[in-house]
Amino acid sequence: MQLLHTLAVVLTGALAVSAGKSKPKPKPIPLKWGVLAFPRYVGLDAYGPLELLNIVAFNTPNMTLSIVAETMDPVPAHISNSAGALTWVKPTYTIDQDPELDVLLIPGGQGSRVAYNNTRIINYIKRTYPKLKYITSVCSGAQLLAKAGILNGKRATTNKFSWAELTASGPGVNWVPCARWVVDGNIWTSSGIAAGIDMAHAFTKTVYKNETLADRAANILEVEIHKDPNWDPFCEIWNTTSGGIPKTMTMSM
Ligand SMILES: *[C@@H]1O[C@H](CO)[C@@H](O)[C@H](O)[C@H]1NC(C)=O
Ligand SMILES: *[C@@H]1O[C@H](CO)[C@@H](O)[C@H](O)[C@H]1NC(C)=O
Ligand SMILES: *[C@@H]1O[C@H](CO)[C@@H](O)[C@H](O)[C@H]1NC(C)=O
Ligand SMILES: *[C@@H]1O[C@H](CO)[C@@H](O)[C@H](O)[C@H]1NC(C)=O
Repeated sequence: MQLLHTLAVVLTGALAVSAGKSKPKPKPIPLKWGVLAFPRYVGLDAYGPLELLNIVAFNTPNMTLSIVAETMDPVPAHISNSAGALTWVKPTYTIDQDPELDVLLIPGGQGSRVAYNNTRIINYIKRTYPKLKYITSVCSGAQLLAKAGILNGKRATTNKFSWAELTASGPGVNWVPCARWVVDGNIWTSSGIAAGIDMAHAFTKTVYKNETLADRAANILEVEIHKDPNWDPFCEIWNTTSGGIPKTMTMSM
């Protein structure tokens, strides 16, 4: 129903444009991607979509991928006992530089719980969002969008394992308990960790309007993509339709 409605709105919009006298200008595709990094982000939340988008970028002139963080210091990912060796990411820009971006991708992880209370990061998201074409999140990254007020009254999803905790941190949000990813306007939110790859595929197919390229990227990554946003076995496993499992049980993995 929602899909049909969206389709109807899109078609009506297209007809309205083609009925006008002036030629419809093709909407410029988003070229400048930024990934927000904060200590203890989940590597795959960021690198899953980035690996797919990197292949898209090879086939899309002037598309850039960058990392935005509080400082230029390398940012450690969420891997315990890594002794400082694993998945540090080197930022391209600091948040104070306010780099010009078209899309901001916000990963999750234990670090999002800390970033949630970091007013510098939340203010960055707040002031950047109006300048973006799209904002996206993977996993618990959605709680930062919620804290920045961007998800108020919007449909969104997040990690299913930590559903109870994360949805409580975004009270004004219309959380969708069963969804691989959710699109509301220019906001794309995806479910836990690996779901970001499916979202990046769908984004390429929908926004870049090139399913061939999206499939090619997935085939190069050798990943089997879930193309249906409603595919979500994890909502049953983690009981999200009945509120999810209590935070006390998700604190230790
Ligand atoms: C890429 O950027 C350069 C420099 O701004 C510009 O000259 C060129 O036309 C762009 N190419 C495409 C395909 O947009
Ligand atoms: C964030 O702030 C809230 C409200 O003050 C607090 O309950 C929570 O423990 C804080 N989270 C972290 C990770 O410090
Ligand atoms: C879609 O991507 C494929 C693979 O990169 C490319 O050959 C094709 O020209 C693209 N189509 C459009 C309409 O850009
Ligand atoms: C989900 O709910 C079912 C039925 O109430 C219960 O048996 C199961 O243990 C729950 N799963 C989790 C992960 O809490």
